[in-house]
Amino acid sequence: MKNFQTISEVRQCVDIWRSRGERIAFVATMGNLHEGHLTLVREAKRCADKVIVSIFVNPTQFGVNEDFSNYPRTETQDCLKLADEGCDAVFLPSVETLYDSEAKTSIQVAEISDYFCGESRRGHFSGVATVVCKLLNIVTPHCALFGLKDFQQFLVIQTLARDLNLPVEILGIPTVREVDGLAMSSRNGYLTPQERDVAPQIYKILQMARNQIINTSTSFTQIQEQSIAILTECGFVVDYFSVVRRDDLMLASRNDNNLIILVAARLGKTRLIDNLWIDK
Ligand code: PAF
Repeated sequence: MKNFQTISEVRQCVDIWRSRGERIAFVATMGNLHEGHLTLVREAKRCADKVIVSIFVNPTQFGVNEDFSNYPRTETQDCLKLADEGCDAVFLPSVETLYDSEAKTSIQVAEISDYFCGESRRGHFSGVATVVCKLLNIVTPHCALFGLKDFQQFLVIQTLARDLNLPVEILGIPTVREVDGLAMSSRNGYLTPQERDVAPQIYKILQMARNQIINTSTSFTQIQEQSIAILTECGFVVDYFSVVRRDDLMLASRNDNNLIILVAARLGKTRLIDNLWIDK
C-alpha cells in the first residue's frame, strides 16, 4: 500500500491510474478505523480498480469545546488494517498541508447544514464540506463512499458535489452495527462500561418509533415526545429525536413517504448519533 503525505504525491499516483483507464474510489476518514470504515473500503473495492483512503482529523469541523485534541489518533494500526483490506493508497496530510494559513475560502451548504447537528454544532458542516471538497479536488476519484450513520453529513456532501458540479459519484453505505445494535463510531470508545451497556437503547427506541409509525396512527409529535422521554429515563440528554423527510430534512407528516428518524443524544460526555430509514 502506498503511503502519501503530500498533495503532489497523491496527484502523481492518481494521474498514472487514470492514464491506465482505472476507476478510482475514495474513502475519507478521520482514522481510528473500525468495521464501519472497513466496510466502506470493501464496498469501494467492489466498485473501482483502485481505492485510496484519507486519514485526517479535520480541525475545522470541531467546535471550540469539542474533542479535537482528544480525538483518537491510531494511524499505525489504521494503516495495517487498510493494507490487510487491500487498499491501494493512504493519504495522511498534516493540517499545514491541507490548510494554507492564508486560506480565505470555505464552503457553506445552506439549509440542510442549519438544522439538527448543524444547530448544536455551529460551523461543523462548513468544516466538513470544505475539507471534503478539498480532498475530492486532490484525489479526483470517480466515486466517493460515505457512511449513512452520518446521514445529514451525507446529504451535505451529496448537495455540495451536485451544486459545484464535481465529477464524482457520492455513494451512501448503510450503517454497520455492533451485535447489540449500537451504530459503530470512533466516539463509542469514549463510553464507560456502564454507558456502553446503555448505549444500544438508542437503536431499540429508534426501532420502537419506526414500529409505531408503520403500525399505528399515533402522531409523529407524540412518538417523538415519548421516545425522548424514554431516552431521558435511560440517562441520555437528548439533543433531537425527529421524524423527517429524507430528501430535505424537513419535519415529516403522515402524508410523506421516504422518511428517516434522526437522533442525537449525549450519554455522559459522549455525543452519539444514529438514524433509521422508514419506507412507507
Ligand atoms: O465522517 C467523517 O469521518 C468526517 O466528517 C469526514 C467525512 C472524513 C470529513 O472530515
